[in-house]
Amino acid sequence: MSGFDRIASTYTLLERVVYGRDMQRARSVFLSRARPRSKILIFGEGPGQFLSQAAPHMPNAEFYILETSSKMRDLALKRIQSNPFMSSSRVIHFMSTLDEVPNGIDLVVTHFFLDMFSEPEIEQLIRAVNSKVCPGSAWWWADFRLCDGHGLGYWRSRSLLWIMYQFFGLVAGLKCRHLTRTEHLFQRNGWGKEVQRRFNLGFIEACEYHRKTPE
Ligand SMILES: C[S@@+](CC[C@H](N)C(=O)[O-])C[C@H]1O[C@@H](n2cnc3c(N)ncnc32)[C@H](O)[C@@H]1O
Repeated sequence: MSGFDRIASTYTLLERVVYGRDMQRARSVFLSRARPRSKILIFGEGPGQFLSQAAPHMPNAEFYILETSSKMRDLALKRIQSNPFMSSSRVIHFMSTLDEVPNGIDLVVTHFFLDMFSEPEIEQLIRAVNSKVCPGSAWWWADFRLCDGHGLGYWRSRSLLWIMYQFFGLVAGLKCRHLTRTEHLFQRNGWGKEVQRRFNLGFIEACEYHRKTPE
């Protein structure tokens, strides 16, 4: 059983209470500028908030999802099946390992996912993903961030991060205890930042990265 099974049913409610709609804004901010994509790889989709909003925008896409919590998977499927514009789960594939995911992925999605891992783990994941993507692919990333400076924003973000790591450690068994900055990891592994958006007084960030073509 995944630790996230324990909080699957309350995850969306908790998110709404603490952050209002800002996490969902960060998940969906790039949908309006999405190019037609055919193979989308999502890490840790959770209860399906992104999937249910994205799928109707991308009618010809196949979604490959790595999600360890069976309860989260059930909730995501239920949510998508209740969407009148996306009544079929035909194009949703839950995979057990990255090895099973086909090559030619043209969009990678990690929303509030990489914050659960250490720097070496994140770098290993990016390198493994690199072997699956095609030229011209994009990566939609969203996560929390420690605000700059030493003002109110910094202390607020630091306190919220501390509370969240305690909470997820206790309830979901999360081992990671601090947030790793990821931008340099994307940069040095062949991904350039195209667009960046911030929400919730700068505490939530969403970026679109593009796969750099080798010189
Ligand atoms: C913090 S939640 C984020 C959920 C969602 N992406 C969002 O935007 O809120 C992390 C999700 O990743 C899943 N997860 C944790 N470890 C994982 C792993 N190693 N591989 C795939 N999914 C994982 C959890 O079950 C959970 O659904």
